[in-house]
Amino acid sequence: MIFTLMLKQNRIVLATAAAVFAVIVILEMAAPANIVGAYGFVLPILLIATVRHRGLMLVTVLACVVATYMGLLQPTKPGRFQAAVINRSVVAGVLLAVAYIGTTWEERKAREEAARAALAQETENLLRVNTQLVDAKDQLNRSERLAAVGQLVASVAHEVGTPLHSIAWHVQALAEEPGVTPEMRKRVTVIDEQLTRVVRIIQDLLSSTRQREPDPSWLPVEKVMSPIAVLMEPVFHAKEIALTVEIPGDLPLVWTDAEKMHQVLINLLANALAATPPQGAVSVVVGVRAASPEELDRGRRVAQSMAPLVVTIVVRDTGCGMPEADMQKAFEPFFTTKAVGKGTGLGLFLSRQTVLAHGGSLVLESEMGHGTTVTITLPGLKTEPRHATERD
Ligand SMILES: Nc1ncnc2c1ncn2[C@@H]1O[C@H](COP(=O)(O)OP(=O)(O)OP(=O)(O)O)[C@@H](O)[C@H]1O
Ligand SMILES: [Mg+2]
Repeated sequence: MIFTLMLKQNRIVLATAAAVFAVIVILEMAAPANIVGAYGFVLPILLIATVRHRGLMLVTVLACVVATYMGLLQPTKPGRFQAAVINRSVVAGVLLAVAYIGTTWEERKAREEAARAALAQETENLLRVNTQLVDAKDQLNRSERLAAVGQLVASVAHEVGTPLHSIAWHVQALAEEPGVTPEMRKRVTVIDEQLTRVVRIIQDLLSSTRQREPDPSWLPVEKVMSPIAVLMEPVFHAKEIALTVEIPGDLPLVWTDAEKMHQVLINLLANALAATPPQGAVSVVVGVRAASPEELDRGRRVAQSMAPLVVTIVVRDTGCGMPEADMQKAFEPFFTTKAVGKGTGLGLFLSRQTVLAHGGSLVLESEMGHGTTVTITLPGLKTEPRHATERD
C-alpha cells in the first residue's frame, strides 16, 4: 500500500520535473540571450533529488547542462559569444552543485528515516520482551504462592490427620457394636469409606507437598461415576437442585485413577452446586465419541493401548454462568470469586491438571445467566468387561 503510494507520488514528481524542464527549454529558445531562464533548471534537479535515485539524477543533470549549453547555438550579438560561454558554464556549475547538495541531503534524510524505523522496531521488540518478562514474573509469583500454600497444607494435613484416625477407629468400633441395625451399618460403612478417602488424601498431602500423581488403569465408567452420584445427591437434594447422572450401557473402559477422578467430579459438582439457584438442574452425562488425531496422540502418550475413542463426561448446570473475564482466569491457581474462607480457587486448576495427567482434556464453556458446561475427555478402550482391571 505504502509502496504504491510512493510510486504514485514519484510519478507526479517526475511529470512535474519534466514539465518544468520543457517550459524552461521553450523559454530559453524564445529568449536565447537570457541565461536567467537557465537557472530555472535548479527546480527539476531539486524535484528529482526527492525521488532519491542516483541514475535518474545523473540523467537529469546531464539533460539540464546540455540544455544550458544549447542556448549557445542561438545567434548572439557579435563579440558576446565568449561571455555567453562563461555565463552558461557558471550556470552548469551551479546546476552540478545543486544536484550534488540535493542528492547528499536526500540520502541523509533517507538514512535518518531508516534509523528511525529501526529504532521503532527495536522499541517494539523491547516492549514485547518486557511483556513476556512481566508474564514470567506473574507465573513465578503464582508458583511461590503455590509452594507456600503447599507447606501450609502439609502442616494442616499433619494436624488434622491425628483426630481423623481416631474418628475412623471409633466409627469402625461402632459398626461392631451389638444392636446395630442393617440400616445403621450401611450408614456407618459410608462414613467409614469417606473417612478412608480423607485419610488417603491426607497421606497424599503428607507424602509430598505436591499432589499425588494419578495412577490410572482401564476401569468401567460406572465404577468412577456411581459413588459420586450417591455422595453428592443429598447435598443437591437439600438445596432443591435436580441432579441427574446419565451413563449409557456399552461404554468403553475408561483410563482413570478412580480416586483422582472422584476428586475432579466432586470439584466440578461443588462448583455447579454453588452456582445454581434452588429449582435449578445439574446433569452429568457420560458418552463416547471418536477421538480426534490430537486426542489420540495425547492419550496414547500415557495410555498406549487406547482405542481411537474418548469417553466424555459433561457436567452441565443451569446456574449463574461466568463473565468472559472470569472464564479466562478460571484455571489459574487461586482464582476465586468466592468469599474468603469459602473457596481456595484451586478446584478447577487441580481438576484440569489431573485430567491432563490422564492424557485427557477439560474445557469450560459458560454463558452469563444461562449456565456452565464442563467437558472432560478421557482415553477409552473398547474391550470385553472381563479385562476391566487389566493394566495398560
Ligand atoms: N459451574 C460454575 N458456574 C459459575 N462459575 C463457576 C463455575 N465453576 C467455577 N466457577 C467460577 O470459577 C472460579 C474458580 O473455580 P474453582 O473451582 O477453581 O475455585 P473455587 O470454586 O472458587 O474454590 P474451591 O474450588 O477451592 O472451593 C469460582 O470462584 C467461580 O467464580
Ligand atoms: Mg471450586
